[in-house]
Amino acid sequence: MRFKTIIEPFRIKTVEPIRQTTPEQRAAALRAACYNLFLLKAEDVLIDLLTDSGTGAMSSNQWAGMMRGDESYAGARSFYAFEGTVREITGFKHIIPTHQGRAAERILFRAALHPGDIVPNNTHFDTTRANVEYRDAVALDLPIPEGRQPHLIHPFKGNIDLEALERTLAANPGKVPLAMITVTNNSGGGQPVSLANLRAASALCHRYHVPFFIDACRFAENAWFIKTREPGYADKTPFEIAHEMFSLADGCTMSAKKDGLANIGGFLALNDDDLAQRCKNNLILTEGFVTYGGLAGYDLEAIAVGLREALDEDYLHYRIRSVEYLAEKLAAAGIPMVRPSGGHALYLDAKAWLPHIPQNEFPAWALSCVLYLEGGIRSVEIGSVMFGLQPDGTEKPPANELVRLAFPRRVYTQSHVDYLAEVLLHVNTLKDRIRGVRMVKSPPTLRHFTAEFEPAHGALIAE
Ligand code: F0G
Repeated sequence: MRFKTIIEPFRIKTVEPIRQTTPEQRAAALRAACYNLFLLKAEDVLIDLLTDSGTGAMSSNQWAGMMRGDESYAGARSFYAFEGTVREITGFKHIIPTHQGRAAERILFRAALHPGDIVPNNTHFDTTRANVEYRDAVALDLPIPEGRQPHLIHPFKGNIDLEALERTLAANPGKVPLAMITVTNNSGGGQPVSLANLRAASALCHRYHVPFFIDACRFAENAWFIKTREPGYADKTPFEIAHEMFSLADGCTMSAKKDGLANIGGFLALNDDDLAQRCKNNLILTEGFVTYGGLAGYDLEAIAVGLREALDEDYLHYRIRSVEYLAEKLAAAGIPMVRPSGGHALYLDAKAWLPHIPQNEFPAWALSCVLYLEGGIRSVEIGSVMFGLQPDGTEKPPANELVRLAFPRRVYTQSHVDYLAEVLLHVNTLKDRIRGVRMVKSPPTLRHFTAEFEPAHGALIAE
């Protein structure tokens, strides 16, 4: 290529204003939200990096598809467009639409798991874990050891630990109804899984007659990392790589709110006829008929178009590069984070950045509040608030205190990223003055969504 600038590979047809606020307005909004960013009004946020889920911008082709949406209750044309695309990419026999990823998880686990079963995964996402545990089964995380060390550079930190997987399969005959790999590994830093690892995990599972599933939310981003990092794949298209990933599995769960480039939707896809039938029965009970699964016909059209657009090379190049570009600026300033940067997000390492805040004063939570206060940026804590509370009510601090900056798809441009870098570099100059928070009210489960906090020492940033 002749020019090195990587541009946003789209032009902007519809814009949505975002609003600047003063530090005083943000301080008041944060107080009113009880220092919980989930409780802010979105219009008080300047750059919203809470999640990359359902927050992307749809293309003109997706909107055109939505106008074609067929709202027939059964057998809608839109379903066949959706089914055809999902089958072409994944190769799976049964394609079951759901309203989002966690519905696919619930339906699969309801049909496949029994109390006392074990489900290995590289790292379960929180809804996946919760849905496994809801069946009184054990959600076992088996990332490679490199995946647990934030600063260590490794091309495929999302890989599953194959030896640990084999030990689990060998020691628990009849107790592992399925194994999963999450691509990319969201809870592990948005890190990719290599095709070599997927191939080996698939072979192991099949040797033990255990079905192998992929949590495919970010399959296109994972395919891009394989193309750019795994020897032998540079000349393959993301579509070909994705197809090869899925060919190793017996099924997948998917949130189309990520690499489906849609605002809502998901699916469960699998080959086993008997299991599929039980899942479909389950679907009808709570989601809807098998040709819409809780979605409108127009949603199915948006996903059918979005899944292909997510595999476009120019788009993937721009997307992965945006996160990496921010990471390079922060790394140059010595700001600690999970390296390499992930596909959909950058994960700041609050434990290393703010070592003076003890874990029981929630350093990552405090940092996420400061990013809002200083720059109007909304992020999400992935630390003690999210994971510290155990099912038996005890507190067990997790190994890392991270703040995730998740990038909505096709929403922000390079100048937004430059602004983010400027705010973070400014926060770096305040770091020694940042203080912890105290939890004043907390629900018994999934507390990060609604817990209330206050500064533990009078102010979030000491004078
Ligand atoms: N699996 C992974 C790896 C996810 O990241 C998510 C959602 C789900 C499953 C569930 O999908 O939200 O459509 O029900 N992750 C979002 C996030 C919420 O912010 O990381 P869903």
